[in-house]
Amino acid sequence: METKKWLVENVNLSFPQIKEAAMWIRENEVVAFPTETVYGLGANAYSYEAVAKIFQAKGRPSDNPLIVHIAKMEQLQPLVQDIPEHANKLINAFWPGPLTLVLNKGEGIAENVTAGLSTVAVRMPDHPVALAIIAEANLPIAAPSANVSGKPSPTTAAHVFDDLNGKIAGIVDGGATGVGVESTVLDCTTEIPMILRPGGVTKEQLEEVIGPVSVDPALEEDGQAPKSPGLKYKHYAPKAKLFLVEGNPLFLQQQVLAEKAKGKKVGILTTVENQVEYEADVILPCGSVKDLSSVAQHLYEVLRKFDEYDLDIIFSETFPEEGVGKAIMNRLTKAAGGDVVKCKI
Ligand code: TXA
Ligand code: MG
Repeated sequence: METKKWLVENVNLSFPQIKEAAMWIRENEVVAFPTETVYGLGANAYSYEAVAKIFQAKGRPSDNPLIVHIAKMEQLQPLVQDIPEHANKLINAFWPGPLTLVLNKGEGIAENVTAGLSTVAVRMPDHPVALAIIAEANLPIAAPSANVSGKPSPTTAAHVFDDLNGKIAGIVDGGATGVGVESTVLDCTTEIPMILRPGGVTKEQLEEVIGPVSVDPALEEDGQAPKSPGLKYKHYAPKAKLFLVEGNPLFLQQQVLAEKAKGKKVGILTTVENQVEYEADVILPCGSVKDLSSVAQHLYEVLRKFDEYDLDIIFSETFPEEGVGKAIMNRLTKAAGGDVVKCKI
């Protein structure tokens, strides 16, 4: 299949590109488009056949449900059974934005969107191109991140192209995404809502609006099965083996030298401030220590960039687990398969 590319500047959303992309989704084809978090791979959420094409193109396990994207509140009602009070408050506070709510599922959504669960995940993205496509298609759009399963999520149209060229009908290029990590997934079916995946909206922000929020214990402890099916899979990994290093730059540099002595080609993931502290084959800065949102924004781009250098091993600095730092450390830990080197002193 030839993958069509549409370039869209944010300024004019009545572009024929938007209309064409939306029409293809109505015709049950799959099309990638930007959201404020990462690029999504969209299909008609009412069509089993269209949604099956998403799983096929990504090589996604069929037990991993998708998020349904909407552009207007009228689209929510038919997707769900009820909207609890706390969910309503969160919608008012954070939509459109990087917050996905898991609610009891209504009727009509294709069975494969929810992987057979009785709940459905829904969000309204805060990106003019995504909103225009959903509104024009006039359908709820099921959309996972537009990467091949297991790879880092795409934050540019070029990332999507690298992964899915020839496997999907089209890509709408609306430039690089802003947030850089995926939405927060919050289960709203329990009395105290539970964070299933940390993301663009932080626990602190949620608690300001609805009071106490819990966190899936599997996110904090090893050995527990995560409640969100997608989180049990290895994800975000670059080709070279990644280790997280807890400790100062000197300690990280020692790890690098030990590997260099064995003849290994070594990369380092650091920040713009700390990059001067190191010597290695490849040193990639990922945002600034002074601004964790800049780290989130560049994280996947940097993880993908390492693949261009044929490295044996990558050492990454760790980041404070506050605010969006939770999501950053969640993704980095997954990318490292849980392997952390700790400074003992
Ligand atoms: O920012 C985002 O959320 C991006 C953009 C494209 O919107 N989408 C995204 O989708 O990250 P995906 O498919 O890569 O991740 C969806 C996550 C998975 O971990 C999945 O298991 C979980 O949401 N999920 C979906 N439906 C669920 C449900 N009913 N219950 C629990 N978890 C669910
Ligand atoms: Mg994903």
